[in-house]
Amino acid sequence: MNFFKKCYCRLFQTMFRLMLPFMPYREPTILNSYDDVVKLFEDNKIERVLLVTDEGISKLGLAKTLEQTLQKNNIKCEIYDKTVPNPTIDNIEEALKQYKKSNCQAIIAFGGGSSMDCAKIVGARVANPKKSVEQMKGLLKVHGKMPLLVAVPTTAGTGSETTLAAVIVNTKTKDKYAINAFPLIPRYALLDENLTLNLPPHITSTTGMDALTHAIEAYIGKSTTPKTRKCALQASKLIFENLEVVYKNGQNKTARKNMLEAAYLAGVAFTKSYVGYVHAIAHSLGGEYGVPHGLANAVVLPYVLRAYGKSAQKKLKKMAVYCGLVDKSIDAGNAAKIFIEKIEQMNKNMGISTKIPELKKEDIPHLAKHAAKEANPLYPVPKEMNEKELVTIYAQISK
Ligand SMILES: NC(=O)c1ccc[n+]([C@@H]2O[C@H](COP(=O)([O-])OP(=O)(O)OC[C@H]3O[C@@H](n4cnc5c(N)ncnc54)[C@H](O)[C@@H]3O)[C@@H](O)[C@H]2O)c1
Ligand SMILES: [Zn+2]
Repeated sequence: MNFFKKCYCRLFQTMFRLMLPFMPYREPTILNSYDDVVKLFEDNKIERVLLVTDEGISKLGLAKTLEQTLQKNNIKCEIYDKTVPNPTIDNIEEALKQYKKSNCQAIIAFGGGSSMDCAKIVGARVANPKKSVEQMKGLLKVHGKMPLLVAVPTTAGTGSETTLAAVIVNTKTKDKYAINAFPLIPRYALLDENLTLNLPPHITSTTGMDALTHAIEAYIGKSTTPKTRKCALQASKLIFENLEVVYKNGQNKTARKNMLEAAYLAGVAFTKSYVGYVHAIAHSLGGEYGVPHGLANAVVLPYVLRAYGKSAQKKLKKMAVYCGLVDKSIDAGNAAKIFIEKIEQMNKNMGISTKIPELKKEDIPHLAKHAAKEANPLYPVPKEMNEKELVTIYAQISK
């Protein structure tokens, strides 16, 4: 990237970093049981809610107990279960229709990042009826009072239950983009590891690698705070210690609980400290080919970390030391190398490929353009890269 563009990006990021303490970041209040959810709705005189989820979760009957608990307490629970992975504007509009038709007063976001993000933007549309989803794209475009939103994650990955983001696909343009705004931070979240016990191994591994990517990208970026650094380190350590355990034995409750905590902590870290080029590339692959988000991140992560070279080595060493992967005495270059190789080994152990087979060579230029546009100047990455430099990374991950 040329000198002037680099200066512009860094200036932009510095401005946001200086504004950090004055921004209305918050975390959701954690609920501990379905009875807490009932009490919350009763206290707020809520009698009808929309539960947003997806077909897979619906078929598994994961939300049944919650639905029944609400119904027993005279709270009507409407279900929208058509959310697709990489949720679309059509999903949001369809769910919004149901929300309005049934006179709902609150929303339960029940599922992985796709269901949670869909639910968040349904809430945003309720609060901003005249603004289309397209018009919410980018930073701070959602205003007004959202309906009460309770997030119940069923994957341990996105951390959407604590972030200000929702990632949406416009199927017409194949554009996958983030909507970032403070009202999107859920007011309440319920973390229940029992809901994740039957998550299939491949979804367990890829969503877990998404959480690891959040933690790493937040930590090595240039807009961290003591809290986001601490959360990112704790999240990474938990993931290194628990992800392969739950991949092999999904029924291990303690490890599942640790993974839910890790995903939450990584969410706390990146909602303030941003992500980086791994996510920008992953979003382009999700929009163009529907590659699942966690899988795309898992594949792309080692390539981007290598491309950062020296600029990320010191921080990667700190992570490696904290996670017990290397000794303090080792030099930063070697520590970073071991850290990246550990990620590759984990991917391999969990059957995650080193390439994205869907990626077509002729699509690389426009995908790189999309990724560069998403990341620059917003993401405070360790090393600024332009479209051309990103093309090199795409070339490495194509078959
Ligand atoms: N808002 C944010 O801060 C944020 C952060 C990262 C990613 N995202 C977005 O989140 C989406 C990805 O979310 P995800 O990775 O959680 O996956 P997902 O929500 O797309 O779910 C993936 C699959 O897992 C199934 N599933 C979910 N929970 C299950 C369970 N407990 N048991 C069995 N099957 C289950 C679903 O039915 C679905 O088929 C992407 O669109 C991504 O861009 C958002
Ligand atoms: Zn992610």
